[in-house]
Amino acid sequence: MDYRISKPPLNKLVLGLITRDTIEEVKNRIDIVDVISDFITLKKSGANYKALSPFANEKTPSFFVVPAKGIFKDFSSGKGGDAFSFVMEHEKLSYAEAIRYLAKKYGVEIKEDKISDEGKAEQSEREGLYILMNFAKEYYKNILHTHDEGKGIGLSYFRERGFTDRTIEKFELGFALEGWEYFSKEAIAKGYNKELLEKTGLVVRKEDNPDGTIRTYDRFRGRVIFPVHNISGKVIAFGARMMGKEKNQPKYINSPETDIYHKSDVLYGLYQGKNAIRQQDVCYLVEGYTDVISMHQSDVENVVASSGTALTESQIKLIHRFTENVTVLFDGDSAGIKAALRGIDMILKGGLNVRVVLFPDGEDPDSYSRKVGTTEFQKFLKERTQDFVSFKTSLYAKEAAGDPIKKAESIKEIVTSIALIPDPVKRSVYIQETSNLLKMSEQVLLSELNKILIQERRKNEKEKLREQEDEPIGADPTVEVAPAKIDTQNMVYYQERETIRLLLNYADNQLESQRLSDFLVRELEDVEFVNPVFNEIYHTFKKGIEAGEPLDNQFFVRKGSEQVKRMVTDLVTPRYETSQHWGDKFHIYFSKEVDVLNELALTNVLRLKFRVVQKMMEDNLQLVKQAELADDLDLLDRSLETQTGLKKAETELAGLLGIVVAK
Ligand code: CTP
Ligand code: MN
Repeated sequence: MDYRISKPPLNKLVLGLITRDTIEEVKNRIDIVDVISDFITLKKSGANYKALSPFANEKTPSFFVVPAKGIFKDFSSGKGGDAFSFVMEHEKLSYAEAIRYLAKKYGVEIKEDKISDEGKAEQSEREGLYILMNFAKEYYKNILHTHDEGKGIGLSYFRERGFTDRTIEKFELGFALEGWEYFSKEAIAKGYNKELLEKTGLVVRKEDNPDGTIRTYDRFRGRVIFPVHNISGKVIAFGARMMGKEKNQPKYINSPETDIYHKSDVLYGLYQGKNAIRQQDVCYLVEGYTDVISMHQSDVENVVASSGTALTESQIKLIHRFTENVTVLFDGDSAGIKAALRGIDMILKGGLNVRVVLFPDGEDPDSYSRKVGTTEFQKFLKERTQDFVSFKTSLYAKEAAGDPIKKAESIKEIVTSIALIPDPVKRSVYIQETSNLLKMSEQVLLSELNKILIQERRKNEKEKLREQEDEPIGADPTVEVAPAKIDTQNMVYYQERETIRLLLNYADNQLESQRLSDFLVRELEDVEFVNPVFNEIYHTFKKGIEAGEPLDNQFFVRKGSEQVKRMVTDLVTPRYETSQHWGDKFHIYFSKEVDVLNELALTNVLRLKFRVVQKMMEDNLQLVKQAELADDLDLLDRSLETQTGLKKAETELAGLLGIVVAK
C-alpha cells in the first residue's frame, strides 16, 4: 500500500483498568460548575447555579448545582450526583469513559493497570465503536493530507470551495479512496474485527460466501468525508459527499443508525459551535454540512445543521440547553418556503424564540457568504433577521390582500402558529402585532386563538384519559399537570395529595391535643384513597403508627416503589419560598405553615371528606338514573335514600367549611 498512517492508531479495543491514583487526581482537579457548563448553560443563583433540566422537558429551571458540595440535583427527573455521574448520565458514558473524558479535559495523564481478563470482558461494546470511529476518522484525514489521490482530488475540492487549512482541521475533514476495500483492509490489519466494522456501518455486508465466511465492502468510496461529532467531540458518524456529477448516485452517503449514532438526536456543528451559541445566546440553523463550515469561515460559529430534514423534538431540546433563541436561515429559492414554515412550528412549540433570515434568490448561506465576504455577510445576517411570526404574517398578508377567503385562511394559519407558543404573555404580544400587520381587530384574532387553544386542550385531555385507562396504576401522578377542568375527581386528587403532604412533612408535629399523624389517621378511618400511590403511602403510614413505629419520609425514599419515591421527594421539597421582600414591598404576609397546622389539618380532613361525599353522590346518581331507566322501583327507592343521606352529610361538611352548596 502506498500511503502511510502517520500516528500509531489506537488499535487496542480492550483497554486497561484506570489506576486509583489517576481517578484521585481527576477528582482533585474537577470543578463541577466548569464540567457541567460544557453541556448546559448555568445561571448563578446565590451561592449555587441553576438551569433548565437537560433530562426533562421543562420551562422553569429545576436543575441545581451546589459547587460547595460538588454535586448537582435535578428535581424534574430525580437524577443527581457528582461531576462523574453527570457526565455519565448526560453523555451516556460508562464510569471508565467518564474518567477518561474528565482526565482529558483537565490534562491528567491516565495510568492503567495490567489488563485483567475480567477487565477485557467488561469493556463495553460502545467503547469499541467509539474507538473504531476515531480510527476511521484519523484514517480518512491521513488519506486527505498524505495520499496522492487524497490530495489531488479531496484536498483540492475543499480548497476550491474556499475551505482553509484551519477549517479542514477544525472539522476533521477527510477523504475515502475509490476502491472496495482500502479502509477495511487497513482496519483489519490494525486488529479490528469484521463484526465491529459492520456494527459501525463503516463496511457493508454482502451475501455470505458458500464456506460461511462474510464478504464486506467499504461504505464510503471516492468521496470527501465529513465526520459528525457528538456533543463531547467524539466521532459518531460520517457524511460522505460525492466528487463528480454521476447521475444515479446520491450526493451524500451517510452512516446508518448505530448504537452510538441516533440521527434524530444529533446536530451537525453543535460540538464546534456550542460555546459560541452560549456566548452569543442565539443559534443559527442551516441545512447542510457545507453551510455550517462556510459560516465558520465567516467567523459565525454559532450554527448547526439539521442535515436537510425538519428538526426533531430532541434536536430542539438540544439547542434549548444552550440558548432560547433560534434563527433559521432560508434558501432564497424556496418554492417550498411554506412547507419549511411547518417545520418551524415545532421550534415554537419547544418554547424557543424563532427568527428567520431569507437569503436572496438562489443563494444559501454557503454560497452567499463566499460571494459577499465575511463583513458583508455578518452585516446581512444582522440586518435581515426578522421575527418569525411577523415574517409569516407579512408573507400571508401579501397573498391575501384583496381576497377575503384567502385572508380568513391566512389568519387561521398564523394564529395556529401563535397558539403553539407556550408562554401566554408572548402569545398576546404576537396577537397585538399580527393585528397591526393584518389590519384586523385583536378581538377577532383572540377568539380564533382561543378556539384553537380549547381544541388543543380537549385533545390533550382525551389523550390523557386514554392513557389513564390503559394504565390505571402505572400512570405517574407526578407527571400529571394541573388538570385543566376542575371537576370532582380532580379535586379529590388534590385533596388526597394535600393530606399525604401534611403527613409526610408534619407527622410528628403536635396539634392541640394530639400528633398530626394520629389525628389524620383517626379521622380518615372510613376514607379510601382513590389514587393508588397515595393509598400506598397512606396505608404504610397507618401501619407504622398502629405498630407504634412512626415513619419519616426517609423511609419512603429508601423503601418505596419508584412512583412513591418520586411523589415523596416532590411533596417534601418546598417549592415556593416566599421572600422576605414580599412582605416589605407588597405588604403581603404569609403565616408559616407550622403555626397554622391545627387549622390546616382540620380543614384538610373536612375538605377531603367533602370531596369524597361529592364523588359518592355523583356515583350514586348514576344508580338513580339506572333505576329509573330499568323501572326498578326498589333500587330507585334505595338509591334516592342514599342520595338524601349524602346530601345531608355534604351540607353539614360544607357548613363547617363555610362553603355554600347548591340546594
Ligand atoms: N443531505 C443528505 N443526503 C443527500 C442530500 C443532502 O444527507 N442525498 C443532507 C446533507 O446533510 C447536506 C444537507 O442535506 O449537507 C443539505 O443538502 P444540500 O444543500 O444538497 O447539500 P450541501 O451540503 O449544501 O452540498 P453542496 O453545497 O455541495 O451542494
Ligand atoms: Mn448547499
